[in-house]
Amino acid sequence: MTDPLRERCAAIVGAPHVLSDPEDRAGYETDWTGRFHGVARFVVRPANTDEVAATVRACTDARAALVPQGGNTGLVGGSVPGHGDVVLSVRRLQALGPVDTVAGEVTVGAGVTLEDLRNHALAAGWDFGVDLASRGSATVGGMIATNAGGIRVLRHGPMRSQLLGIEAVLADARVIRRMPGLKKDNTGYDIPGLLAGSEGTLAVVTAAHLRLTPIKPSRVTALLRLATLRAALRAVQSLRALSSLDAVEVFFPEGVALVCRHAGLEPPFATPDGVYLLVECAGQHDPTEELAAALETISFEDSAIATERPGRERLWAYRERHTEAINAEGVPHKLDVSLPLARMEEFTARVRPALEDAVPGARPILFGHLADGNLHVNVLGAEPDDERPDDAVFRLVASLGGSISAEHGIGRAKRRWLTLTRSPEDIAAMRAIKQALDPHGILNPGVLFP
Ligand code: MLT
Ligand code: ZN
Repeated sequence: MTDPLRERCAAIVGAPHVLSDPEDRAGYETDWTGRFHGVARFVVRPANTDEVAATVRACTDARAALVPQGGNTGLVGGSVPGHGDVVLSVRRLQALGPVDTVAGEVTVGAGVTLEDLRNHALAAGWDFGVDLASRGSATVGGMIATNAGGIRVLRHGPMRSQLLGIEAVLADARVIRRMPGLKKDNTGYDIPGLLAGSEGTLAVVTAAHLRLTPIKPSRVTALLRLATLRAALRAVQSLRALSSLDAVEVFFPEGVALVCRHAGLEPPFATPDGVYLLVECAGQHDPTEELAAALETISFEDSAIATERPGRERLWAYRERHTEAINAEGVPHKLDVSLPLARMEEFTARVRPALEDAVPGARPILFGHLADGNLHVNVLGAEPDDERPDDAVFRLVASLGGSISAEHGIGRAKRRWLTLTRSPEDIAAMRAIKQALDPHGILNPGVLFP
């Protein structure tokens, strides 16, 4: 059967870039966790901003829901279609502008992967401040839409903090261009900052002008095993004083066991007990001495330190391979939360019994970015559509003054719980913004709002 909207999109982007067959659409219809699926009306792959704008115009004219998608590495179902939504993939927006080596800035297309952005910056003597495990697939557009965080937020902030300028297509197909963007520019509302974290509900990001960071050639990584989370939090307090501190990640014995089993790694230490902290320092000069001095003030049970890349990568594997090891066990509930550090101990003590009460036999695996107060509570052993584990964890988080989304967003997964940590006034203000920018509710209608 012919679909007039599909024909119009094919005329805009070329027929090979409109995917209608189920096999061609499949990779765009399920999120990375495997928990969220949809069925797209079709997938459209524009090659430039004009084609994005014309596609948005066609969908608005047809009042057809449109789901912008980057690398589809999100973990809350925010980039998969509902039933019959059009998916607009930005992956062909691959432009890599020249690096401004004086300012330390670059303009790139929304479809550029984090890895390609980073390699491009490195080749010009600069680096990019955000890093995360899905670097090979996550795209700049998706990372802006979700305000992605990752492992270096404590030093560089999340994606929003890297954003100097933006180009984005609004729901009425007009293009906002705040390009190239300036480091200092207090001229009205911060639209790039608003679009960061808007989860594709306000505009389709097509390009961004990004802040870069100087390369830090010397790195040292330490894996510590501490007796308790309290000891780990005390360690964070000491480590924060280090000017070279780049990452402080946390994980627990059950996660290490899973990673070792799935990745075929030897356990890091003989005793699998307590709490693991992965600490990285980086600078222009070797930060090993600075880290060693800090470690003398910290009480830990075991440690391993590496300065060369292979050794550091071996230590990072215990942390970074959590996600794939968990997914290899089944479809997880991924509950990304943040807490005031003062409530973190109470949370970790209460979350396991709360989950056991909610879903007897559920297996929690916790890891995350401790210095940011951000834990990823992954739950195995519950059916994908069983909301009891989510409900138990989010209610506990809210009761302790935390957030139900630290860095993954709300997506489809958490909209039911938005009211736990956002007031009616706050949600009304967000809805008013949505209504003003997307009055027909075309852009990613299934996400964010309850
Ligand atoms: C991470 O910190 O590794 C990411 O947020 C991915 C995840 O939570 O699985
Ligand atoms: Zn994370």
